[in-house]
Amino acid sequence: MGLSVLVVGGGGREHALAWKIARSPLVSKIYAAPGNPGIAEHAECVAIAADDLQGLRGFAAAKKIDLTVVGPEAPLAGGLADLLTAEGLLVCGPDRSGARMEGSKVFMKNILRKYGIPTADFRVFDDYDEAEAHVLTRKLPVVIKADGLAAGKGVAVAQTYEEAVSFLRDVMERRVFGSAGDRVVVEDCLSGEEASYIVFTDGTKVVPLPSSQDHKRIGDGDTGPNTGGMGAYSPAPVVTPKVEERVIREIFEPLLAGLRSEGISYRGILYAGLMIENGVPRVLEFNVRFGDPEAQPLFLRLSSDLVPLLLQCAQGKITDAKMEIDPRPTVCVVMASGGYPGAYAKGHPIEGIAEAEGGEGVVVFHAGTAISDGRLVNNGGRVLGVTAIDDTLKGAIARAYRAVDAIHWEGAYFRSDIGRKAMGRGAA
Ligand code: AMP
Ligand code: GLY
Repeated sequence: MGLSVLVVGGGGREHALAWKIARSPLVSKIYAAPGNPGIAEHAECVAIAADDLQGLRGFAAAKKIDLTVVGPEAPLAGGLADLLTAEGLLVCGPDRSGARMEGSKVFMKNILRKYGIPTADFRVFDDYDEAEAHVLTRKLPVVIKADGLAAGKGVAVAQTYEEAVSFLRDVMERRVFGSAGDRVVVEDCLSGEEASYIVFTDGTKVVPLPSSQDHKRIGDGDTGPNTGGMGAYSPAPVVTPKVEERVIREIFEPLLAGLRSEGISYRGILYAGLMIENGVPRVLEFNVRFGDPEAQPLFLRLSSDLVPLLLQCAQGKITDAKMEIDPRPTVCVVMASGGYPGAYAKGHPIEGIAEAEGGEGVVVFHAGTAISDGRLVNNGGRVLGVTAIDDTLKGAIARAYRAVDAIHWEGAYFRSDIGRKAMGRGAA
């Protein structure tokens, strides 16, 4: 009998995880909670929400799951890894103390400062008047962040003092993010180009995935409001081998040593959101999980088995860090419901996925889809991650967009410039 694996979550990242785990000869059974119709092709989906920690604990214990892999941050911040570990079960993901690297920006920034890791200079406030007085003395643009988890909406890069004060009021007085706004970080605005750098770690050893880059804004040319991510590609040319070496030496190694001296043995995935300027990497944020949509293009490049690494992270000891990466670039174009990240209509039938996947080197990952009256329909903001590989980035982009053109539902929206920034940096 092979291993049983539980994937927690039901978005595009979790489809990519289930798709990759299903290719492992070590695995004989995959469950997903709650999963989605794409994940259902590889896993048995069980109707337990990703934030139902007791439901997940009960299910994993009853099924004696060999390995649980957690997609989103909220269950980790809530202590899912602690609950599963207490049942004697293996889980790839940090415990509650490690998950504070994403769950509390104040905690994360203080750790970075204490251990000398490059990041924007900052101050922390728990009093509105003091925060406002400080903000009004800062250079514009000024960056304000709610301390806690706010589904990606807790950050403002304010171009004017009016905007800064209005966001500060929303967070600290109107409390639109609840207790996540008890404290705020006010920090300097960094300039440069953003990239994502994701590693596996057992708390000491670091095994990096290739670099990638997300496209956070809704509109072409990085315009309009922030989203969960409208597309990604790998590698990110801005992360040169030299930058990569600095990221490991100046960021991950001192961070993990710092966490160990704080009594935190971090196990799982650690994702640094970086700003890179003139070859110097600085930390914008940490996430305690794979990126979504970065996981989709990354797993398409990963030619070796993912499961041994997930297992070794869960066991807290990476012994065999073998990782084979396809040198060819990949790109993922997210197709979203019209109106996202605002209000959008659900329930429109989706056509053309089979045709899209008929193209060479194309995989369509599901995010917000559902089955209604026997038909696949859109059921969330981000709906599909159309992902392609080719010898060149240009080729991968062309393949991905050819596949996107084959897919239709009413109101479908996508950016038409995913990957263009890398082409501008001279990627072939
Ligand atoms: P975070 O959740 O901290 O990554 O913030 C979300 C987004 O806000 C980032 O991806 C950046 O685009 C932007 N951002 C955050 N902090 C800064 C900063 N100090 N300087 C410039 N942009 C930032
Ligand atoms: N794509 C950004 C994130 O996963 O946080």
